[in-house]
Amino acid sequence: MKAFVYKGPGKKALEDRPVPDVKAPTDATVKIIKTTICGTDLHILEGDVPTCTPGRILGHEGVGIVEKTGPGVTAFHQGDHVLISCISACGKCEYCRRGMYSHCTTGGWILGNTIDGTQAEYVRIPHADTSLYPIPPGADEEALVMLSDILPTGFECGVLNGRVEPGATVAIVGAGPIGLAALLTAQFYSPAEIIMIDLDDNRLEVARRFGATQTVNSKDGKAAEKVKALTAGRGADTAIEAVGLPATFLLCEDLVAPGGIIANVGVHGTKVDLHLERLWSENIAITTRLVDTVTTPMLLKTVQSKKIDPKLLITHRFKLDKILDAYETFGHAASTGALKVIIEA
Ligand SMILES: NC(=O)c1ccc[n+]([C@@H]2O[C@H](COP(=O)([O-])OP(=O)(O)OC[C@H]3O[C@@H](n4cnc5c(N)ncnc54)[C@H](O)[C@@H]3O)[C@@H](O)[C@H]2O)c1
Ligand SMILES: [Zn+2]
Ligand SMILES: [Zn+2]
Repeated sequence: MKAFVYKGPGKKALEDRPVPDVKAPTDATVKIIKTTICGTDLHILEGDVPTCTPGRILGHEGVGIVEKTGPGVTAFHQGDHVLISCISACGKCEYCRRGMYSHCTTGGWILGNTIDGTQAEYVRIPHADTSLYPIPPGADEEALVMLSDILPTGFECGVLNGRVEPGATVAIVGAGPIGLAALLTAQFYSPAEIIMIDLDDNRLEVARRFGATQTVNSKDGKAAEKVKALTAGRGADTAIEAVGLPATFLLCEDLVAPGGIIANVGVHGTKVDLHLERLWSENIAITTRLVDTVTTPMLLKTVQSKKIDPKLLITHRFKLDKILDAYETFGHAASTGALKVIIEA
């Protein structure tokens, strides 16, 4: 089968690989229909994710059809259409029982990281019963690819951890797919203002269409002052960091209102300063989270009922044998306007 393989920092290739088989009784293999590329895959290619070693098939998102199940799999059968979660979960360990699937002792974020992933014709899914979701008949499978990772990430790490409330002011730093997913799902709670901050005017324009009430281009380094000006000097009740850089976390420290929450979503590769000398008296909270995908069934219902339309995030489509072009397009979002690229296997 064809598979997209990480070959070490800065190196990648489309290779021929054997079709995976089930290994454990609780495994299933899935024939991929559609997958996509995540910002985290770009981090891996840059060598920022040491757990992912050269030779790994990347990808942790997708929809497909169950090909084969181990004897321990009871919830899925050959031919079932399934959504693949970016987080694999046994459902039984202490963390899983607490709903913290991201820290499953035999799972978590392993797909396309420590085991081969979804950017291939087939993938092996461990703990299939609790890591796959059935796709309802008639559902738009392309839209559901957005449910493998980005919608639960924006919602759980940004909106839920940031405790977005009716009438609140939310600032989202980073209008990439994750920031936009937070923007879409923050609106479940009717905040009064959602201020979107990015360097890319094209993405800020998209954010307006997705429901941002204000947009701020932070190129001039004055985003915090602008947010304060838009909020009568208070700042944001919820500041969602959806970039993963020291500068954008510091911006959240600067624009959070007294009593507010900084909800970090970004994957950080370098040290970030925490200015407690300014923040100690501001009654703020800071949260961090690796997505648990515990809200996936709920989000699936909101997509089915058209409360949110994640298909709006899809800008480009490629066949699997053109995945190197897909990476080019996705990796140069500022010039290509790419948000999510769909790859058809
Ligand atoms: N916590 C989790 O479980 C989890 C899961 C998935 C992804 N992530 C992380 O979430 C982050 C966002 O993901 P994405 O796919 O949307 O990434 P992305 O790179 O597509 O988007 C980031 C956005 O930030 C903007 N940006 C960059 N520097 C900026 C600055 N100085 N000021 C303002 N905006 C700036 C970029 O223009 C871009 O639009 C990444 O760090 C990703 O690795 C976290
Ligand atoms: Zn991802
Ligand atoms: Zn577990």
